Amino acid sequence: MTATLRPRRRLHAALTAAIALALAGCSADKYPNTIFEPTTEFNREVLSIFHSLFFWSALVFVLVEAALIWVMWRYRRREGTGEPRHVHGNTTLEIAWTLIPAIILIVIAVPTVRAIFRTQAKAVPGALQVQVIGHQWWWEFKYPQYGITTANELYLPIGRTVNFELHSADVIHSFWIPRLGGKRDLIANHTNYLWFTPDSVSENAFNGSCNEYCGASHANMRFRAFTVTPAEFEQWTVHQKSPAVFGAAPAAGATTAPVTAATTPAGAPVTPASYTGYTGFTADKLPAYTVPTMPIPDGLKFTAGLTGDAARGQQIYSRSACIGCHTISGNPMSQGVIGPNLTHFGSRLTLASGLYANDEQHLALWIKNARVMKPGVLMPTLGKGEHDPILGTTLTSGLSDQEIADIVAYLHALK
Ligand code: CUA
Repeated sequence: MTATLRPRRRLHAALTAAIALALAGCSADKYPNTIFEPTTEFNREVLSIFHSLFFWSALVFVLVEAALIWVMWRYRRREGTGEPRHVHGNTTLEIAWTLIPAIILIVIAVPTVRAIFRTQAKAVPGALQVQVIGHQWWWEFKYPQYGITTANELYLPIGRTVNFELHSADVIHSFWIPRLGGKRDLIANHTNYLWFTPDSVSENAFNGSCNEYCGASHANMRFRAFTVTPAEFEQWTVHQKSPAVFGAAPAAGATTAPVTAATTPAGAPVTPASYTGYTGFTADKLPAYTVPTMPIPDGLKFTAGLTGDAARGQQIYSRSACIGCHTISGNPMSQGVIGPNLTHFGSRLTLASGLYANDEQHLALWIKNARVMKPGVLMPTLGKGEHDPILGTTLTSGLSDQEIADIVAYLHALK
C-alpha cells in the first residue's frame, strides 16, 4: 500500500514545491493585494482548496496529455498496414473513465463543501460585529457594540474574530479585502455574513474594494482596512464614539490652516487637547500600496494661498446643503444619513471612498466639484461657476473658493 502511495506523494510534494516556487513571484512585497499570503483562517482555508484543485487539475492534465501523446505515437499509421480494426465499446475502460473523475470530484468536493459550511457557520460568540452597508459608491461601517458609524476606513483588532453583516442600500455590491477575506455580496433585503480573524503579527493596512459591477463608479468604490492592536482598537472606539471635538460651539481661538493648490500633506488645524489616546492609523505608517494615486481630473482649479477658518467653515457648512446628507456628531445641525458620517473625518487618511488622499487640495476640489472627481457621485457640485457633468448646467450660485477653504478647515478640524 505504502509502495503504491509513494510515487503519488513524491509527485504531490514536487507539485507543491513547484506551486510554492511559482507563487513566490506573487509575494506581498511585489503584489500587496495577493491572496497567496493569507493572514486569516478564512483565506488559509480558501488557499488550501486552491492548492488541492491545482494539484488535481495538474495531475489530470499531465496524465491525459501523456496518454494522448503515447497513443498517437504507438498507434500511428505505418507503411503496409491496412484499415485499423474497428472497436465498439470497452466496458472496463468506460467504467474506469467514469469512476476516476467521479472519485477526483469527490476528493475536491469534500473539502470545498466543508469549507463552505465552516465559513457560513455562525461566528464565535464575542466576535466583533461590523455592519457593512454598500452604497453607490462608498462603504458605511457600523460597530453596533460600540455605537460607532464611520465610512471607507475599517479598523480591526488583531486576533479577534470579526463578524461582518453585509447589506446594501441600493444595488448589489461585493465586499473583498484580498489579504484578509471575501468576496461576499452585499444585497438589499438580504443579509449575508462573513467572518475571519486577522492574525497579522503587527499593525497593517490593506486595500479593500467592491467586486460586483454596481454602476459608473464601481471601480472607484474602495476602502482601507487597518489591523491594530486590541488596546489601540479600544482607544480608537472611545475616540470614534466621542462627538466631534470641533463641536457645535465654535472653539475660541481655533487655529487655521492654509489651503493651497500644492500637494502638501494635510496640516492639523486643531489638535484636540482633551484627547491624547489613539485616534487612528497615521499617514506616515501607511504602506505605499494604500496611498491613493488617482490623478486630479483635468480642468479643476482652486485659488492658491487661501487660508481657511474652521469656525467660519462650521457656520457655512451648517447652513449649506451639506447637512442634508452628512452627520457630524457634535454638530446638531448636521443629521443627514444619505452620505458618509463625517464626525471624525479629519482623522481619515482618504476621501471619496479611498480615491484621494484626505489633504486640503483634494478635499477643496472634492467639495467644489465632486462629480468631476468621481463620475456619477450623488454629492452635488457646490462650487460657484462650476459645470455639473450630471445636470449639464453651470452653477450661477454656490460656494466661493474662500468658503470652501473655510469648510475644509472645519472638516479637517474634526479629528
Ligand atoms: Cu459597489 Cu461595485
